[in-house]
Amino acid sequence: MSERIYLNNDWRFASDFTQEATEKIRLPHTVKELPFHYFDEQDYQVLCKYERTLRVPYSWKANALLLTFEGAAHDAIVYVNEIKVAEHHCGYTAFTVDISDAVEYNKDNTITVRLDTRESVNIPPFGNVIDYLTYGGLYRDVYLDIRDKTYLRDVFIRPEFTEGRCRAVSLIEVEKPEPEMHIRQSIRPYGKKNFISVGMVPATRGSIAFTLSNAERWSPEHPKLYEIRTELLSDGHVLDEKITRIGFRESEFRKDGFYLNGEKYKIRGLNRHQSYPYVGYAMPDSMQRNDADILKYELGLNAVRTSHYPQSQAFLDRCDEIGLLVFTEMPGWQHIGDLEWKNQALTNIRDMIVQNRNHASIILWGVRINESVDDDEFYEKTNALARRLDPSRPTGGVRCYRKGSFLEDVYTYNDFSHHGDNAGCEKKSAVTPDVNKAYLISEYNGHMYPSKAFDWEEHRLEHALRHTRVLSAVAAEDEIAGSFGWCMFDYNTHKDFGSGDRICYHGVMDMFRNAKLAAAAYSIWQDDEPVLEISSTMDIGEHPASNRGDVYIYTNADSVRMYKDDVFIREFKRDGRQPILIDDYVGDTLEKNEQMTHAQAETIKALLNETARVGFEGLSRVSQAKIAALRLRYRMNSEDFRDLYNRYIGNWGGNSTVWRFEAIKDGEVVRTASKGPMTRWGLELEPSHTTLHEDKSYDVAAVRIRAVDRHMNLLPYANEPLLLEAEGTIDLIGPTVISLQGGLGGVYVRTNGNAGKGRLSLYTADGRKYRVEFDVLMSL
Ligand code: GAL
Repeated sequence: MSERIYLNNDWRFASDFTQEATEKIRLPHTVKELPFHYFDEQDYQVLCKYERTLRVPYSWKANALLLTFEGAAHDAIVYVNEIKVAEHHCGYTAFTVDISDAVEYNKDNTITVRLDTRESVNIPPFGNVIDYLTYGGLYRDVYLDIRDKTYLRDVFIRPEFTEGRCRAVSLIEVEKPEPEMHIRQSIRPYGKKNFISVGMVPATRGSIAFTLSNAERWSPEHPKLYEIRTELLSDGHVLDEKITRIGFRESEFRKDGFYLNGEKYKIRGLNRHQSYPYVGYAMPDSMQRNDADILKYELGLNAVRTSHYPQSQAFLDRCDEIGLLVFTEMPGWQHIGDLEWKNQALTNIRDMIVQNRNHASIILWGVRINESVDDDEFYEKTNALARRLDPSRPTGGVRCYRKGSFLEDVYTYNDFSHHGDNAGCEKKSAVTPDVNKAYLISEYNGHMYPSKAFDWEEHRLEHALRHTRVLSAVAAEDEIAGSFGWCMFDYNTHKDFGSGDRICYHGVMDMFRNAKLAAAAYSIWQDDEPVLEISSTMDIGEHPASNRGDVYIYTNADSVRMYKDDVFIREFKRDGRQPILIDDYVGDTLEKNEQMTHAQAETIKALLNETARVGFEGLSRVSQAKIAALRLRYRMNSEDFRDLYNRYIGNWGGNSTVWRFEAIKDGEVVRTASKGPMTRWGLELEPSHTTLHEDKSYDVAAVRIRAVDRHMNLLPYANEPLLLEAEGTIDLIGPTVISLQGGLGGVYVRTNGNAGKGRLSLYTADGRKYRVEFDVLMSL
């Protein structure tokens, strides 16, 4: 027998452990819903109680009853009928307890969890300051597996490669194996129906291996997965079975970089926290998967670092499915504690690896506390443990200093050296003590240039350019395996960090996963989806002295044609993965409109274009002299030049100018954008999905909101209030009134246990109404 029952519903909660748990809740749960920002992190630090009734039928009497908590932040003690059955001291790893000896059969049993969410507990990551919030709660699935007393405790399947052939080597742990029992394995491509049997061995052997001559390799471009069924047999009778999903891929860090299936890959990723507005960590699978999709499909990345802890199975499963490489790491942030703390850290590594080592996407284990100091005795142990539990993957360990004690296979370093006008990254040889081993940049930018969606345009542009510069610098360094930028989205943080409102504005997206301009610095590296982002609204008054400054086109197209009021100005060619600097707003229009000679038009055009970027005051002496000389050469005084400037660049007072852009790929227009004065605005709503599922728990959909003009351009200073209303089968998460921030916002809606229609309405202050309709399906 092998059955799983999810226990995410029907919990009762009390924020004080000494009180009766009366509040009815469902998992994933956060101990305290928080405001968007400006709150006190003490608010979620409690010693709380979760309670649930579990009816245990007599028919389970002969079974093992394995109760699993996927995520209990942070320190949990579990009781069954007031008898302690387990404790677990990590908020980021799962734990399982066999409760069969503790339950009473044919009766209602009470499961109680005493959960300590306070940061004073002596376990990682706690002990000092931390730059992220460590929200408490039972925030992932809880389930009960009803198994035979003899069962498969763990199956670890490791792909091996010899002479082009794949071997799947399984290490199998059986609970209470008996001599006559057998293990049988079979395989099928993921998504196919039938398994093909591949081998059988005595259960006591603990390992089984088979060779496949024609297995397809897993890669970011072709994330081919297989399912392997492992059965535990007694007299031909199946006692237990486990289906493990794996990918066959050869992943290797070499001296000169990262190789997958023998091919060199430049790792291009971002760091991801698992947090969301209001509910912190407590989001169901659909939202976890959505983040993986955003990383891969919207940001065009091939990798993610799960900073600074192992993240949910749903997230990692999705990374396997879509081919997103993962660097995952032990929980912690800068601080190393006492012996007890370190022992817990070792337990965390063990759990992280044992629970995640079948994920094809994981390519590297982080076995150092992020940015901690050298501690050879401790880190020799973490490395040894990781290598023993998973000989197939290398170790890394993130530091913020050069030439540290290098016990890992890959030197992973946070290179924050770029500050705007210097090189994008350091040289490998300047950082790592052993250039014969691999080197990877685990973070850059972040706190070096916090950037809000509502910062002024030049700031947002510089944010994007810094990401561009680092990416380009890393791409040019053959010896660097790749890099992970800091970070995917803005996040709530402790008082010691961020902008004082408990937010670190370090994301290339905001907290609702709305793209800032810097997101385009990443998305232009992929070729599947056309990208065309103009760095400016073209409103000159946004800039000092009304000088336009540098305007860039972020695109992955071959070229971009620019038109001013439908008059063609120029076609700009893309150079590598660099944004295009618009260095010509005039084209040959002077020659056409002003009866100028070619030479005259060229001279004046160059002067106008320079003035556009730097303003009259910023012109070089040479250019100023050239403007003065126009009088002699062309009988134009400086007033005439200013007049041309106003008509061709400044556009003051004249008709509204519309700048139109066409992105061209292989001769075709693949995307267009237009920039003109805003005349009216509206909301653009983008739901993550509109068919929601009530199955193992509630579902959540995210709706991203953008204030846009008639050309669908973001209005970066729209901070409008919106009134939100949910009806029918959905409820709102968070407040009913929000303000857009930098033209951006978001809403999360949660299913409320009913099937059928749900409706989200959004009202603007001037009485306009927007709607999103949802369908909730019940598969309970
Ligand atoms: C790093 C740290 C990250 C984050 C980042 C901000 O030092 O590892 O967690 O704080 O700085 O740039």
